[in-house]
Amino acid sequence: MSKKIKVSPSILASNFSMLGEEVEHISNAGADYIHVDVMDGHFVPNLTIGPDVVKSIRDKTAVPFDVHLMIDPIEPYIDGFVNAGADIISIHPEANDDTEKCLNKIKSHNVKAGLAINPDTDWEVVKPYMNVLDLILVMSVHPGFGGQKFISSAIDKLKSLRKEIDQSGREIELEVDGGINFENIQSVIDAGANVIVAGTTTFKGGQSEYRNNIEKLRGH
Ligand code: DX5
Ligand code: ZN
Repeated sequence: MSKKIKVSPSILASNFSMLGEEVEHISNAGADYIHVDVMDGHFVPNLTIGPDVVKSIRDKTAVPFDVHLMIDPIEPYIDGFVNAGADIISIHPEANDDTEKCLNKIKSHNVKAGLAINPDTDWEVVKPYMNVLDLILVMSVHPGFGGQKFISSAIDKLKSLRKEIDQSGREIELEVDGGINFENIQSVIDAGANVIVAGTTTFKGGQSEYRNNIEKLRGH
């Protein structure tokens, strides 16, 4: 139960006009990962950033890049994000692309592979991939935008997945993404999450508050 909690700030909530500086600040403030939300205006109704932008901020920090692909198709873009310096790449099984093929392609580059599951998707979708996964990402909002309200059904999903991961005996991280704040964080940790994505909550109050926000999320 004394698992280390990692905080993965979503740069979607940062000031894009000074993205490099924001990545440096959030790293110095203690971020464990940098969460990069990639949206294609097709799989989700919003457009964000692509591999060139990820590459441009890669040398601003040594903190691992946790890249969350909300795109369809997936496969043609994997190499681009690998070359841009992604350390973890998570994909959605709800996309029409071949999930297994994409996960294997990510792993073939020695990059960690994650599966991200939407609020309406059953947690059991992970089962066929337990042997290859390094991370499971539970969406606690419908993907597309930062600043949404936490969907509480994510709690039961986290509990089921925590059980499944522990039974597998594999080291798979359990990440939760969307609407996390100081009030609900303990409930997702208690349910078994060990990586917490937080956009709005981490970047609240400007750069002088980042350290404080991250430490408060981590609980010490
Ligand atoms: C939603 C994204 C999340 C989101 C997190 O599609 O995957 O990473 O931006 O932002 P907050 O913490 O503001 O909900
Ligand atoms: Zn995300």
